[in-house]
Amino acid sequence: MIIDSSSLHLAINTLNRNLPVVFPTETVYGLGANAYNDSAVQKIFAIKNRPAFNPLIVHYPNLTAVLKDGYIPQDFMPLLQQWWPGPLTLIVRKNPHSAVSPSVTAGLQTLAVRVPAHPLALQLLHALDFPLAAPSANTSGFLSPTTAQHVAADLGDKVAYILEGGPCRVGLESTIIDITQFPVKILRPGCILASDLAALPASDCSTPIQITSPGQLEHHYAPSKSIRLNAQTAQSDEGYLVFGDPPKNHAGMVLQLSATQNLEEAATNLFKHLHTLDQSVVKRIAVMPIPSEGVGIALNDRLRRAATPLHTGENP
Ligand code: TXA
Ligand code: MG
Repeated sequence: MIIDSSSLHLAINTLNRNLPVVFPTETVYGLGANAYNDSAVQKIFAIKNRPAFNPLIVHYPNLTAVLKDGYIPQDFMPLLQQWWPGPLTLIVRKNPHSAVSPSVTAGLQTLAVRVPAHPLALQLLHALDFPLAAPSANTSGFLSPTTAQHVAADLGDKVAYILEGGPCRVGLESTIIDITQFPVKILRPGCILASDLAALPASDCSTPIQITSPGQLEHHYAPSKSIRLNAQTAQSDEGYLVFGDPPKNHAGMVLQLSATQNLEEAATNLFKHLHTLDQSVVKRIAVMPIPSEGVGIALNDRLRRAATPLHTGENP
């Protein structure tokens, strides 16, 4: 495995040979491969040990490129001008002539599309002749990576190339909205909020198509240690993830999400701190209550999933 920031051309060569590459986005690191090549896409599923029924997001350099593969009603263009490039994924109707591999969409007629905002991701996407299918670059069900080092520790030599782009600015996966449904539905909360989408137009799909939602696996984004939510205090063998002032008498390890109780800062720190606690000596993780408002909705969504026990067979 090579970790490198200087050599975009090595990443491009690797992708052109239909091998997956890890690249930075503003949300989390992605494990990308040629979305038009089925064998390249299948390698993503194998590396992550991801169930084949869970479809992937396709990443494009711009809106024009997206429109080759997906149908976006005209009404949505102002929204996309506002948020792309950025941490927003749309579920759209797939163009029947699209070359996107059927493995990407897990056989659905819909397609998840996004234009990421990280400068290196955009440079990479502009240099390629194809878009990148890319899930988060972690073993399926494990914590999402927000640094190249997180990816190296998790996937190691399973990946040929990691393009280093520093710590992810947002730190939580993109907001996913399904615009094939009426009314438009948020499938995954993120840092773009329902209130940011308040001016959303009605979808003009006159005959809404049937979606077999792959759903979101309940146990997800999880460290290997157990997590206790809404913890007002913590035991000495627990690592304590705090939001604002911690109780003065806690003897164990404390990591601060945001001293000023800023939810965006907490989002940036969440996966980073969970990775640190997971690799530390603490036996369990306790998390202070976080208000379910604004980005706190996405934070609590990820924490709730991380705290859900893994049942055998639920999430390979
Ligand atoms: O921020 C992000 O979105 C990151 C970066 C790398 O772009 N990617 C990411 O991908 O989080 P992933 O695979 O970890 O999560 C994608 C989610 C999954 O829950 C999947 O089921 C859903 O998107 N998804 C993909 N295609 C879909 C579709 N056609 N309909 C409904 N859900 C879909
Ligand atoms: Mg993921």
